[in-house]
Amino acid sequence: MTEPTVLVADDEIGVRESVGRVLRHEGFRVIPAEDGDAALAALRQGGVDLLLADLRMPGLDGLELLRAAKLLTPEVEVVVLSGHGTVQEAVAAMKEGAYDFLTKPFERAQLVRTVRQALEHRALLLKNRNLQRRLDELVGAGEIIGESPAIRQVLALVSQVAPTAATVLIQGESGTGKELVARALHEGSPRSGRPFIRVNCAALPETLLESELFGYERGAFTGAAARKEGRFELADGGTLLLDEAGDLTAATQAKLLRVLQEGEFERLGATKTVKVDVRLVAATNQNLALLVKERRFREDLYYRLNVITIEIPPLRERGEDILLLAGHFLRVHAAKNRRDIDGFTEAALARLRAYPWPGNVRELEHAVERAVILTRGKMIDLGDLPPAVGQAEPATRVVPIPLGMPLDEVEQRLIEETLRLTKGNKELAAKFLGIASRTIYRKLKE
Ligand SMILES: Nc1ncnc2c1ncn2[C@@H]1O[C@H](COP(=O)(O)OP(=O)(O)OP(=O)(O)O)[C@@H](O)[C@H]1O
Ligand SMILES: [Mg+2]
Repeated sequence: MTEPTVLVADDEIGVRESVGRVLRHEGFRVIPAEDGDAALAALRQGGVDLLLADLRMPGLDGLELLRAAKLLTPEVEVVVLSGHGTVQEAVAAMKEGAYDFLTKPFERAQLVRTVRQALEHRALLLKNRNLQRRLDELVGAGEIIGESPAIRQVLALVSQVAPTAATVLIQGESGTGKELVARALHEGSPRSGRPFIRVNCAALPETLLESELFGYERGAFTGAAARKEGRFELADGGTLLLDEAGDLTAATQAKLLRVLQEGEFERLGATKTVKVDVRLVAATNQNLALLVKERRFREDLYYRLNVITIEIPPLRERGEDILLLAGHFLRVHAAKNRRDIDGFTEAALARLRAYPWPGNVRELEHAVERAVILTRGKMIDLGDLPPAVGQAEPATRVVPIPLGMPLDEVEQRLIEETLRLTKGNKELAAKFLGIASRTIYRKLKE
């Protein structure tokens, strides 16, 4: 085991030195950084376990540094150092994912305790993540569940294009499974033994995104202390997923076009050209054709990306899959939380089926996970579902009733439509209508 590495970012040399001295004495490796940009460069070199970041620094300040760190190196724990009058900002930093904060001036013992706790927290997180990964393997995460005609069509297309080298554009609303499909394309290709790399084009500002994609040479910009390979190089021989591709800026679009056309690019600040063999998959929840029309997306790049398009329909158009997925997520999360749960009550099932799921499969998974944790019984009931789902009017569909229709026909129509909603379940329909089930039987006979 090598000693844990702490990156100390503070513009005051006195703080860097005294903190560094204390931590080295405790057996940690310490990297000092005199501002946010230098700290970011050090983070990208890798090997950092904990970042101590002063909030007030010239250039990239502590909060911006924290955000960048959470995006680029999410496994690095962050503790912020706040000076007089910045406690408010320290609290904001905690909300953005900092583990803790220290208010200057702090005691030596306080510093050591906080650093140790943050590192223990990190070790625990990493351990959990490994466990999670093993669990995912056990329950077969990554499998695309569904039997609706719509998802079958998607699956057929996936198995058809996966083995080819074609660039694929995956379109679909948020949470429909675009990343899952992208992974399936990779797994089903001859490249499956090589890396699958994902880049979120919406999360990073242009310059950071370009240096992430293409890498940089030493000295390409302040803080670039050593050469770094970009994601294109990391994905060599494998697949690169450009996620949220609709958010690419014009400059990055132009550079991508060249990689697609010529399979080559230069690292930032380099003159030498790098050649890579990467299969590109792009995903977006925006309508790229529309962005092209509005001149926010290059037409030539659009056609390059759009060799094959896979449209993933929203969950509400895949009614058959809702209950299948709900059952799947129930098993997964019951196992994960060691809960013994048999299934859903009829009322809960009907509600799951009727709810429109604007957040698609992701929303469904979260709803089921939450219910598994909250329920006290062996069956998940209406009350265990999130308020938005559970309290939604069950019959959000509208029954058109022309004025002048006789009342008993209105009643008949309403009963029929409610039964259609409950798929013929008379008990449940009676519950929705607020009448006894025998009343339904009687009315239907009439
Ligand atoms: N058909 C499916 N079978 C099983 N799990 C699925 C299915 N579709 C989506 N999921 C799960 O739902 C979650 C969301 O899927 P994913 O991240 O692929 O969506 P996305 O379209 O990339 O969303 P976003 O646009 O928000 O990035 C993931 O946990 C994924 O495993
Ligand atoms: Mg996604």
